[in-house]
Amino acid sequence: MTKLDTDLSGSPDAPRRAHIKSYGCQMNVHDAERMADLLAGEGYVMTEEAENADLVILNTCHIREKAAEKVYSELGRLRVTKEQRAADGRTTLIAVAGCVAQAEGGEIMKRQPNVDIVVGPQSYHRLPGLIARAEARDRRGAIDTEFPEEDKFTALPKPEAKRLMARGPSAFLTVQEGCDKFCSFCVVPFTRGAETSRPVAAIVEEARAMVEAGVRDIMLLGQNVNAYHGDDGKGGTADLARLFDRLSAIDGLARLRYATSHPRDMNAALIAAHRDNPKVMPYLHLPVQSGSDRVLKAMNRRHTRDFYLRIIDEVRAARPDIALTSDFITGFPGETDADFEDTMDLVRQVGFASAYSFKYSPRPGTKSAEGEDSVPESVKSDRLLALQALIVAQQTAFNAACLGRRMPVLFEKAGRFPGQASGKSPYLQAVNVEIPAENAISDFIGRIVDVDISELASNSLRGKLAEGQSSAVGGKAA
Ligand code: 5AD
Ligand code: SF4
Repeated sequence: MTKLDTDLSGSPDAPRRAHIKSYGCQMNVHDAERMADLLAGEGYVMTEEAENADLVILNTCHIREKAAEKVYSELGRLRVTKEQRAADGRTTLIAVAGCVAQAEGGEIMKRQPNVDIVVGPQSYHRLPGLIARAEARDRRGAIDTEFPEEDKFTALPKPEAKRLMARGPSAFLTVQEGCDKFCSFCVVPFTRGAETSRPVAAIVEEARAMVEAGVRDIMLLGQNVNAYHGDDGKGGTADLARLFDRLSAIDGLARLRYATSHPRDMNAALIAAHRDNPKVMPYLHLPVQSGSDRVLKAMNRRHTRDFYLRIIDEVRAARPDIALTSDFITGFPGETDADFEDTMDLVRQVGFASAYSFKYSPRPGTKSAEGEDSVPESVKSDRLLALQALIVAQQTAFNAACLGRRMPVLFEKAGRFPGQASGKSPYLQAVNVEIPAENAISDFIGRIVDVDISELASNSLRGKLAEGQSSAVGGKAA
């Protein structure tokens, strides 16, 4: 869960205030940023406190039941806020955006009549019109869950450089949306629609603007990002490796990453890019969901365990040090102890740098929700705990193997403790570093600096600036 919290208060004109709370995936976090940019153009300033906001947007996630339920408890709290503000003569608009909005549409307003706007992930560029109608108390058209013809990204205003800068040197850029794969457990094809790719030229233009504003590390986003096949402007299409070629020609852009991928779309060119393109970082999030062929078939993944392991071998041959991460579901309908053991075995065989794992949760409208949710909750939980323990051990081992290594760290912000700067390793690990008193921490932000990794913390690494690096950053070097 992420809160978008750029507080730009203090304008003499008492501008309208907006609060956006975002749940779910990185795509949602980025959508929330784009909504904030859009609202900034409409004269809104962002506030961290819902109680101070004239407009509250919940940018929701529908992937698992728990994620979706959070929305309704939050809406319950917001109803009270809205009533309290009304008693003080202030109006509050409440908007539900994101994937729950897409999936449930008008149902949300029936359950929570205080909701003024429901807007899906493909139509949030129309927020200004929806807000105007809501302010005029026009309930018609308060729900916009279309997959419109016009391109959302073309319709959205370009974010101002100062807003991009405020978010730091690592940024998201959406290159692809939607999914045609229909894994039997997954709502994404319903909430995000069919798979579409943005044209190369539009992506390159957006990336250039980001780099001009100080961005150095771009995470390309898509629900099926490695299925990217955008218009190359020459009558053909470009795959993700080709898009990387185009983006890596941008001076000043140092790092490229991508998420999230499907094993079937890992083509040879993309694997080779991990070897040949120095800007493509040694990091790959490749969900497998299960290590059992029987379960993979029932999930409609359309790949086997061996296929996944072969891809991993090829990726490691191209980039031996790559950090591999994945997603897993425990307790999928029909999953036996032996199936789960196959998952544990796959994890042992691969050795992940980290991974996400979830208990199966039936989602309305999906194929697997038509059958029985057959694995008891306690079994799902036991399997999840066992899997997570194994993954944590692997994560610790991966981090421990970094001790004593020198790594280029991209500094993003001041650390949690005074005198510290915090950045990311090529493997996307958080690295905290003491900055010598004679240096300003701000001089390090946006710089890639060699760091000697010296200590493990619970979820991060600690390191020391490599010799000569502090004087190099003291205002002069790159
Ligand atoms: N139940 C549990 N986990 C799910 N995921 C997707 N749908 C479900 C579901 N119905 C997990 C998958 C996916 C990640 C984003 O969420 O592991 O890769
Ligand atoms: Fe959640 Fe999927 Fe929507 Fe992201 S795309 S917010 S993970 S349902």
